[in-house]
Amino acid sequence: MRTRQARLASAYVTTVRLNASDSGSVETDALVVGINTSPDGPRPAPGAQALDGALTGGLAPTLSALGFSGKAGEITKIPTFGAVPASVVVAVGLGDAPAEDGAYDLEVLRRAAGNAARSLAGTATAAFALPAATPEQAEAVALGALLGAYDFSRYRTTGDQKAPLGEIVVLSDASAADGSVARATTLAESVTLVRDLVNTPPSDLPPARFAEIAEETATKAGLSVEILDEAALKEGGYGGIVGVGQGSVNPPRLVRLGYAHPDAQTTVAFVGKGITFDSGGLSLKPSASMAWMKSDMGGAGAVFGALLAIARLGLKVNAIGYLCLAENMPSGTAQRPSDVLTTYAGKTVEVLDTDAEGRLVLVDGIARAGEDDPDIIVDVATLTGGQIVALGWRTCGVMASDDELREEVVDLAVAQGEAAWGMPLPEDLRKGLDSPIADIANLNPERSGSMLAAGIFLREFVPEGVRWAHLDIAGPAYNKEAPYGYIPKGGTGMATRTLVALAERYEAGREA
Ligand code: BES
Ligand code: MN
Ligand code: ZN
Repeated sequence: MRTRQARLASAYVTTVRLNASDSGSVETDALVVGINTSPDGPRPAPGAQALDGALTGGLAPTLSALGFSGKAGEITKIPTFGAVPASVVVAVGLGDAPAEDGAYDLEVLRRAAGNAARSLAGTATAAFALPAATPEQAEAVALGALLGAYDFSRYRTTGDQKAPLGEIVVLSDASAADGSVARATTLAESVTLVRDLVNTPPSDLPPARFAEIAEETATKAGLSVEILDEAALKEGGYGGIVGVGQGSVNPPRLVRLGYAHPDAQTTVAFVGKGITFDSGGLSLKPSASMAWMKSDMGGAGAVFGALLAIARLGLKVNAIGYLCLAENMPSGTAQRPSDVLTTYAGKTVEVLDTDAEGRLVLVDGIARAGEDDPDIIVDVATLTGGQIVALGWRTCGVMASDDELREEVVDLAVAQGEAAWGMPLPEDLRKGLDSPIADIANLNPERSGSMLAAGIFLREFVPEGVRWAHLDIAGPAYNKEAPYGYIPKGGTGMATRTLVALAERYEAGREA
């Protein structure tokens, strides 16, 4: 039997393949079809027509009788009583039909496929006859289904457990859709790995273990890997990472993952906050706020997952990922509020609150990334409760060194279905970070605009002349509520796909 630990290193995703047969004749256990709303009631979407033909036009009246209208998010199962080879039909709502079949919103397709896949746990094979007229649509269906089939049950030994959906077949006659299924699988593997890492209990994922998994997996994907252990971090002057990690018996690590393409013209550097558990340190969190702080490494997870996908997709770009890994714990060796640390950039920081630790590890990663001479640095972090206050649980905040880059990142994220909103970096918040004794304090005790103040803190450490963007994913990294679309309960994998899209945006040969 494989151990829990061994299983963590390789993310399991359901297999997916394409099939050009139609929804009336495909041999499968379950058949997923899309339904649009219309003034006359539910209407079969592209892909569902062959099934509707085999049912002699009975699909819409049956769904209507069941109270199903075709709104996005709706899902219902109906038996086929032998009318087609599939024994059950899963109808999913796609909302209003777009003007043309080619214009289906990709996120609508991903979510519908995800809802269907989630409802099919325990099923061996399901055919997805959703709109897939273009390679992009086929990819969206495949990706939504793969991510919706996600399951994290490795810690459960009892209870009635269903295996996740076994095999996904995407029905599409789109030429060139082959590549899109491969791309969906690569993205799903990365997102699945990130979710697994976030969901893993922090005792099983101390910084050294995270670094080991990164090394093992990244090396196989052809990435270069450099790991700085505690001694190397001290020696190298990484005062932020060392300071945050010094209270834990599990020492910190900085992992550098490198990917290079011979035709690359641009270098992107990603920096992830990797607090494997955030207790707050001596500025201890109340236990209710500590409950899901195993997810405080979600930014480092996203950076790791993105680097893997970039390498596996062979993107024509140079990409470097930094995982800033530490456990924030209180102890006799922990840093104290009012301690001053010297960061890798040489700037000193007065630690007014040890719970504002993410920015301390990030600035060491950001400053180090400057040595790679990147065109752009993007950091991703579960950084502030202020992000959740401002934007809620699902929408990340995006801040940047210039408006154009911020808008670009927001647009790329939204196109992936990763909700994002641009946020300012108001100059007037800088003075709140003045320290009476050091170059800067790690928080404004007044706490207003804390998401923005954190961004302003980070900006002070961005190397001169490098474009920089910051994603605060505190809420979206972890879903405490019920699953929806292709998002499970627990770790979501937020920002992984946005980072891959960013790397693609900077590929050689792309229009700027
Ligand atoms: N990891 C937390 C931020 C967080 C909060 C992530 C809720 C996910 C959900 C971060 O390290 C933190 O503690 N931030 C403090 C900073 C404060 C002390 C300035 C916060 O935002 O409350
Ligand atoms: Mn904290
Ligand atoms: Zn934190």
